[in-house]
Parts: sequence; structure tokens; C-alpha cells
Amino acid sequence: MTDILGTSEDQIAQAAALLAQGALVAFPTETVYGLGADARNGQAVAGIYAAKGRPSFNPLIVHVANLQMAQKYAVFDDQALRLAAAFWPGPLTLVLPIAPGGGLSELVTAGLDTVAIRIPAAPVAQALLSAFDGPVAAPSANPSGRISPTRAGHVVQGLSGKIAAVIDAGPCGVGVESTIMALTPTPTLLRAGGLPVEAVEACLDQPVALPQIVDDHSPSAPGQLTSHYAPNAPVRLDVTDPQPDETLLGFGPDCTNAALSLSPAGDLTEAAANLFSCLHKLDEMGAKRIAVSPIPDHGLGRAINDRLRRAAAPRG
Ligand code: TXA
Ligand code: MG
Repeated sequence: MTDILGTSEDQIAQAAALLAQGALVAFPTETVYGLGADARNGQAVAGIYAAKGRPSFNPLIVHVANLQMAQKYAVFDDQALRLAAAFWPGPLTLVLPIAPGGGLSELVTAGLDTVAIRIPAAPVAQALLSAFDGPVAAPSANPSGRISPTRAGHVVQGLSGKIAAVIDAGPCGVGVESTIMALTPTPTLLRAGGLPVEAVEACLDQPVALPQIVDDHSPSAPGQLTSHYAPNAPVRLDVTDPQPDETLLGFGPDCTNAALSLSPAGDLTEAAANLFSCLHKLDEMGAKRIAVSPIPDHGLGRAINDRLRRAAAPRG
């Protein structure tokens, strides 16, 4: 049985108590719903991999309530502190050296000597992390390789019966996962996400190395498989002229023949927030083949195109 919890103080306390017992709790962040477990409890973390059916070489992001707690688990240099001051809480994950003695389960980091860590901004995530008062490992709360959840209903659809509870706080504001940055030897974007890389470059006052095209044989962020975020139907990108048997996911005012639109106004922030729920809806509509309008490749468009390319990638 998976409990659906609200956001009252009592229910947050209940969710924190479940985490402390080693149970799995899905909770909303500003990016997507995460599937949380106590990051110090190997058994609980193993439960995440089991519930998601996730390949075990894929390390997880650790979520904490504040910078003081983050410094217990990761070593921050000047650049890391600068980014944390500018963008936390918010949709940015930093890959940093593991701080000695922090006690994170090695399953969280998949045996690497770095940890991916972030402070989420959503009030419910903040409340849960403060109540739990510890590190929470949380990948997106979906079965591995499927579309990320931006509503509690998506979580229930994918993981019901496999997790103890989900906190329902409505749709996620940002709608795509956090931007992941490594800082050594040089600032490198590992995953485009909810914070535009241009903002990171402005903060660091230097260009950021962009990710190589990842394929299944040489993942740059470990476990970044090419086929990911996949709806049931095959996906074709950059389509201005859909075939008769294709369902068009549009963007911008010109797509009058679109079945659904990421943003009729052509707004990238709105499109990011709608992306995963549109893909879920296309599944629900029983689309046989999906065509997607071109999306500009700057700002949040970079993260949207990254997710769409994965959705369109050959299935393994
Ligand atoms: O927005 C988000 O980041 C969401 C919400 C729930 O916070 N979480 C999320 O986590 O997307 P997940 O586990 O689905 O994504 C983790 C990504 C993977 O691509 C993984 O390879 C990378 O982070 N990663 C984790 N630890 C890493 C490390 N030490 N070095 C490089 N990449 C790492
Ligand atoms: Mg994910």
C-alpha cells in the first residue's frame, strides 16, 4: 500500500518518520517528484534501486536542507561556495568530493569518490528535509527509463505498492530535473536542467564545458543512458510537417495542428514545466507515433531538448 499524504505539519512529520525507519517516500521538489530514502541507510537506498528497477551503477543525488548540512557530506571549494550562494535552494546539483566521515551509503555514490548534492527550493521538500534532519537520496520517482513525474498521480501510476508514501503538493514548478555541474578539473555541465547554464557561466565568470553526446557505452555522468524519459510511442524531433499518423506535440503560436502544446506562447519556462506531463498525456491518449515541433536550444530549451533527444533515442 502506498499512502498519499498531504502537506500539513503532521503529515510531513509522518513522512520524515517513515524515512527514518528506512522506508521510501516520494516528495515534490521544484524540479520533479523525487523518490527519497535515508542516504546513510544502505538497505533503504537499495530499496530505491529495487523500486525503480534502476541499473545499480547509477549514483543518486543527495538532498539536504541547508549548506551546513551539505558541507557535512561534500567538500566545497570557492567556486562551489559561489554557486551555492547564488543558486541554492534551487534546481542546481553540484558534483563534489565526498567529505570524509559523513556516513553516506556507498550505494548512493555507486562507489565514486564524488557525491552529487543539492538543496531543493520547494517548500514541501524544505519542510521534509528539515523535519528529517538528514541527507535524503532521491532520484526522480519513476520506474527506470520512464517519464519523470511532475505530479503525485504520475508517481502513483509508476510506483504504487512499491513505496511507503507520496506527498502530494500539486504540480512541480520547474518541471525538468536539476542542472548538474562538476567543478574539477574545470566547470563542466553534466546534465542540462532547470537552471540555465548561461546563469552558471555568468556566476562563475567563465565558460562551462558542455557535455559530450552520451551514448550507452561511454556515459559521461555515470548511468546516463541514451534512451530515457521514454513515452510508449516512438518520438520524432524537430518536426515542422507531421505525417498523418503522427500526434504533434507543439511549441509556439504557429503549431495550429498540434494535439498538445508545450507552450502555445513559445515560452521556454512554461514548456519545461509542461514537458513531462505532456509526455504522460500522450501516453494516456494512446498516441501511436509522436512528432515534436522544434524547440530553441538556449536557456531552458537546452534541458528540454536533452530530455526529448533521450525520449526519441533508439530503445535498448
Ligand atoms: O531534479 C533533480 O535532480 C531530481 C530531483 C528529485 O531532485 N533528481 C534527479 O536524480 O534527477 P537522478 O538520480 O534521476 O539523477 C542523478 C543524476 C544521474 O544522471 C547520475 O548519473 C548523476 O546524477 N550523478 C549522481 N552522482 C554523480 C557523480 N558523483 N558524478 C557524476 N554524476 C553523478
Ligand atoms: Mg530520472
